[in-house]
Amino acid sequence: MGRPAWTLWVVVAVFLIGDGLAKPQRLGSEPLEPLGPGPLETNNIVELEVPPELDEAMSDAELVPQHYPAQRAAQVAVHYLNTRHASPYRRIELRRVHKASLEDLGQAGKKYRLQISLKESISNTDLGQCSAEVLFSGEQEQRAPQVQCSCEGLAKLNTRAEEDALFQRLNTSTSPLSGGNIPDSYGHVDPEMKPMWRLGAAAASFVMLRESNESTLYNMAQVANFTQLETENDQLRFKYHILLHDMISQEILHWKLLVAWSPAGGVSVLQTDFEPKCHRCGTVPSAEPKPEATKASAVS
Ligand SMILES: *[C@@H]1O[C@H](CO)[C@@H](O)[C@H](O)[C@H]1NC(C)=O
Ligand SMILES: *[C@@H]1O[C@H](CO)[C@@H](O)[C@H](O)[C@H]1NC(C)=O
Ligand SMILES: *[C@@H]1O[C@H](CO)[C@@H](O)[C@H](O)[C@H]1NC(C)=O
Repeated sequence: MGRPAWTLWVVVAVFLIGDGLAKPQRLGSEPLEPLGPGPLETNNIVELEVPPELDEAMSDAELVPQHYPAQRAAQVAVHYLNTRHASPYRRIELRRVHKASLEDLGQAGKKYRLQISLKESISNTDLGQCSAEVLFSGEQEQRAPQVQCSCEGLAKLNTRAEEDALFQRLNTSTSPLSGGNIPDSYGHVDPEMKPMWRLGAAAASFVMLRESNESTLYNMAQVANFTQLETENDQLRFKYHILLHDMISQEILHWKLLVAWSPAGGVSVLQTDFEPKCHRCGTVPSAEPKPEATKASAVS
């Protein structure tokens, strides 16, 4: 008499648990009846049996999210977001690429469509999933990739109090702030210098965005040095000498940047100068852990 109700309950329970989890082998002393393929499993089979001609009808080529082409495009989207949202107290980092596809637009270039998840690394705030489009120009002459990215999680970041405090401190200080070797050769950053490293990294994202193409993967390596200049138009100004690392060519690139910042106006880069000389190549510590893509082979 109890048996039919019991069996129904078991079927409902397995359905709710879903197909991602192991099915309970035994419930109580009643032997579990073989269930056969449930509704969820049937769905999986249908998905695997998509006829190939339907797949080819899609105009975009799916990319492996962990491989370099998808990772490089995602990093460009992150540089773009950092040009708009990074500050001495904010830095956006890539967590994961979930989905990526590539559309070849011929002369107009190559368009990557990405589903990525991001975090703000100072407060370790999860920014959730965001969709991005990155268009690398098809022209011979290098032009900055064009990026569109919508990311609702960014709205929850609020660092105004820390930024105001830093601004006041630097604006009223009698001796201009300066520093160098951030991080030092042991990878150490003085706590006091962390905001200045991040401001350098925010400024570097403008260069990394502009200089990126399909065969680069730029990372901020080090603030070689920086000097605070006279405040102008209520914006603090700094001269930065930064080192970028291209993980594909393994080159270290030197850039001198004139940077302006205020909490209200954000970060802007007024001048960029490439320094072709590279005396210290290979001796620069990397401030960041290498992304998962390092071991993946590059498709050239
Ligand atoms: C920065 O300091 C200058 C001089 O001390 C002052 O006139 C100016 O109002 C300050 N700027 C802000 C935005 O507080
Ligand atoms: C990408 O940029 C690098 C560094 O500026 C340059 O050497 C390379 O030729 C560029 N590649 C393409 C495909 O534009
Ligand atoms: C900043 O660092 C660069 C690269 O190491 C060096 O060439 C330059 O002289 C330094 N500038 C200052 C003001 O220390």
